[in-house]
Amino acid sequence: MTHSTRSTGVFLLGLVLGATLVSVFRLLEPDDSSVSVWAEERPRDLDPIWVERVGLLEGKLPGQSHAMMDVAYHFANLWFAAQAENWPLADFYLRETLSHLKWAVRIIPIRKDPEGNDVDLGGILESIETTHFVWMSDAIAKKEKVRFDEVYRLTVEACHACHKASGKPYLRPQMPEAPPEKMIRFSPDAEWPK
Ligand code: HEC
Repeated sequence: MTHSTRSTGVFLLGLVLGATLVSVFRLLEPDDSSVSVWAEERPRDLDPIWVERVGLLEGKLPGQSHAMMDVAYHFANLWFAAQAENWPLADFYLRETLSHLKWAVRIIPIRKDPEGNDVDLGGILESIETTHFVWMSDAIAKKEKVRFDEVYRLTVEACHACHKASGKPYLRPQMPEAPPEKMIRFSPDAEWPK
């Protein structure tokens, strides 16, 4: 064996060893399942058919504005439940409002303001959840209607603040004029069936 064929052999062996090591390290890498497929950098080796199917499903999911229409529906009903002093119903609509807000934020967690800066909708929602939603929940638990009316109005402004931050100041919520729900009875003590 000449010197050059031996060094080629060593070189090739090195290549094989190197490739084996790379694949071993790939296996040792942490599970990619924590990486969102919606992130810009997709995990390697994703089956293209799978990617296409996820894309198709994404296209069929409700959009953020749809989730927000549900928020508005529950939030307006909340006002009329509290006006009727139907506190268990008010509590229900308060929870629904919050869970639909969370859903809306999951759909698009980060938006851009008109200047192109990121707007962290989850962060904004968290700050409202730990203030306005706590105040409303407290007023409902204590059946304090005057306090509830006051904090509800503040929450309407908080809704608008997030719309402004998202570059949509024209989405200006107002005090609801009529309950959107027609089937559910708002009065707590009305007798069945009337
Ligand atoms: C964390 C941010 C945030 C908060 C808080 C928020 N919104 Fe929104 N809302 C948005 C964004 C963003 C849009 C626009 C969605 C779009 O353009 O697809 C929107 C849109 C809307 C719309 C228009 C839906 C449509 O397409 O007709 C309504 C109604 C609405 N919000 C009601 C509310 C109410 C009521 C509250 C308070 C209880 C609220 N929002 C709180 C971010 C927020």
